[in-house]
Amino acid sequence: MTIDRARLAELTAREAGVFAAARPRSRSEWERASRHLPGGVPMLWMRKWPGPWPVYVASGWGSHFLCVDGIDHVDFCLGDTGAMSGHAPAAAVAAIAAQLEHGSTFMLPTRRASQAGDLLAERFGLPEWQFTLSATDANRTLIRYARQVTGRRKILIHDHSYHGTVDETFASLAPDGEVVPRRGSIGAPVPVSETTAVVQFNDVPALGRALATGEIAAVLIEPAMTNVGIVLPDPGYLDAVRALCTRYGAILVHDETHTLSAGPGGMTRELGLEPDAIVLGKTIAGGVPAGVFGMSAAFGDRVRASVRLEDIDVGGVGGTLAGNALSIAGVVATLGEVLVPAAWEPMVARATEWTAGVQSVIDEFQAPWQVTQLGARGEYSFRPTAPRHGAEAAAADDFELQQFLHLHALNRGILMTPFHNMALMSPATTSEDVARHTEHFREAVGALFA
Ligand SMILES: Cc1ncc(COP(=O)(O)O)c(C=O)c1O
Repeated sequence: MTIDRARLAELTAREAGVFAAARPRSRSEWERASRHLPGGVPMLWMRKWPGPWPVYVASGWGSHFLCVDGIDHVDFCLGDTGAMSGHAPAAAVAAIAAQLEHGSTFMLPTRRASQAGDLLAERFGLPEWQFTLSATDANRTLIRYARQVTGRRKILIHDHSYHGTVDETFASLAPDGEVVPRRGSIGAPVPVSETTAVVQFNDVPALGRALATGEIAAVLIEPAMTNVGIVLPDPGYLDAVRALCTRYGAILVHDETHTLSAGPGGMTRELGLEPDAIVLGKTIAGGVPAGVFGMSAAFGDRVRASVRLEDIDVGGVGGTLAGNALSIAGVVATLGEVLVPAAWEPMVARATEWTAGVQSVIDEFQAPWQVTQLGARGEYSFRPTAPRHGAEAAAADDFELQQFLHLHALNRGILMTPFHNMALMSPATTSEDVARHTEHFREAVGALFA
C-alpha cells in the first residue's frame, strides 16, 4: 500500500492550520527570539520540529509539559532521553537544589564523588568511572584513550549510527563499500575514511575483515541501534563483536546512552556482555548536564600507564566543568533514588502497551509498517519487517510522512522524539498517556489509508 502524496500534503496543511490557530503565544515567543537567535531557537536543529514555528515550553512535570499557550502535552520525547527520569523528579530536584546552595563547581571532588562511583560500578559492572558533561564528550575521550593505548588510528562504527557530535563518527558506508561523509556532515576536519571504518550492524564477516586490518583502535557501538529506528542485534551478534575485538586487540565501547532503556544496567547487564568501556549521559544526572564512562580494570590500567601526571590537564581529555559538584549530585540522586532498578517494571509495561497500541493500528489499516520495542522505548518504521541494519532502516525514512505524524500528534497534545518515530516511557508515564497516543495514531493512520 503506497501513500497518496497529494492526500498527505493536504492532511499536513490542515494540521499546520490547526497548529497555527492554537499556538499564538508560541508564535510571539518565536518572533521575539528570532531577533537574536537564528530560527528563533537556541540550537538550529530545533527548527526541524514540524509546524510553522516551534512550541515553547512553560513547565514540565513527570510525563507531561505545558506549552506557553497552556496546552497540556504527554511527553514521549523526554528530551530525547535527557528526561527519561520524568521532568523534575522530586528526589533529584531536591539533591541538585541542595548542592546548588553549597556551590556548583570547585575543580575539586565532593563527598558525593565516591557515592557516584559506587553506584555506577555496581549498576554497570565496570570498576573505574570518570565524568564528562555529555555523552558526546565521553565518547570523544574514550576514542582518544583507545588510540593512545593501542597506537592505532581508526575507530569502527556501524553505518547510520549516532554517538553525538564526534568528528570520527560522521561516516557512512557507500553502496560500493567506500567510507564517505555522512549526508549533512558539517565541516569535517579530514576525510572520514582516514579516521573511520564502517560496517553494517549484524554483519560479522565485514566486522572481522575490518578488524583484521589491525588499524582499529576502538569499536564504538550501541548494543542495539536507536538512532535510525530501533535495530536489534541478531542472536550472538554482540558476542561475536566481543570475540573479534579481543582477537584483534581493539577496545570495545558500548554506548548505552539510549539503550539504558533496555534495563537498569543497560543491554550490557541485561545480556551479560563484557565491553572494555561503557558510555552513558543524557538522563544520568536527572537532567543536569553530565556524561560518564566506565572502564574495565585492564583498560583503565593501560590508560593510566600511558599518561603523565605532569601533562594530564593539556592532553586533550578534560573539561573545566566535567565532574562538577552539581552533576555528581544529580548522578547520585538519579541512580540512587529515581532511576532505581524497580523503575523499569512500569516503564517497560507502558512501552509494551504503547507497542501493542501501534501494532493494533498497523493491523487494523494493514499499513506496511512495523514496530519494535527495546525495554522502555518503542519505535515504528515505514517498512513491513524489522530492519537488520542501518542502511535498511534508513531506506525506510520518509520525512514528509514523519512530519505529518508528528504534527498530528502535537495537535492532540503528544510530543514524539523528533527525527524518529520513537516513544520513551518515564517512571511517571501512565496507561492514559499511552492511550492518548494510540488514539492519535489510529486517527492519523486512518486518515492516510482510509
Ligand atoms: C547513542 C548516543 N550516544 C551519544 C549521544 C550524544 O549525546 P549528547 O548529545 O547528550 O552528547 C547520543 C545523542 O543522541 C546518542 O543517541
